[in-house]
Amino acid sequence: MSDTRSGGGAFLSDIQTLRQRAREHIAQGAVTPGYHADRSVVLKLLNEALATEIICTLRYKRHYFMAQGIHAEGVAEEFLQHAQEESQHADQIAERSTQLGGAPDFSPDGLASRSHAEYVEGHSLEEMIKEDLIAERIAIDSYREMIQYLGAEDSTTRRMLEEILAKEEEHADDLARLLEGIGGH
Ligand SMILES: [Fe+2]
Ligand SMILES: [Fe+2]
Repeated sequence: MSDTRSGGGAFLSDIQTLRQRAREHIAQGAVTPGYHADRSVVLKLLNEALATEIICTLRYKRHYFMAQGIHAEGVAEEFLQHAQEESQHADQIAERSTQLGGAPDFSPDGLASRSHAEYVEGHSLEEMIKEDLIAERIAIDSYREMIQYLGAEDSTTRRMLEEILAKEEEHADDLARLLEGIGGH
């Protein structure tokens, strides 16, 4: 193994080394020896995030149908849009797990306890919006921690989580506005 070192101690592997490493362990797909994160930890974190997104999808779906029943169409539409976006996040996370050689955990057994956010039904519109806002704030904090943990060790997963985090922040903002709109606080 030889490295091409440049002035400040930063280095890039030479082409021969990169080519040789790519040929070894080909069954590991996208996971090359240059992957420095602790894969088992990353896969566990991704499965927790997956559970969170599934729980959030289910909660928003429930809120969508219930809000329709109480003639809160504008809010219901927002719930539906969030449900769809949480479901897309679940797919992105599951896909990344398989790229890393893991298996996404879609099992309903223990789903609620793997999830960071909770499934709370809520009775009034105000309660629903508040519960959704709490769940988003939990998701925001846990994604932030994951992003910090990954740092430069797995930049692809980190970038994906950063994109998802930005969307969760948007969701939280939407909910805060809805709450204001219905006179809740
Ligand atoms: Fe999400
Ligand atoms: Fe969200």
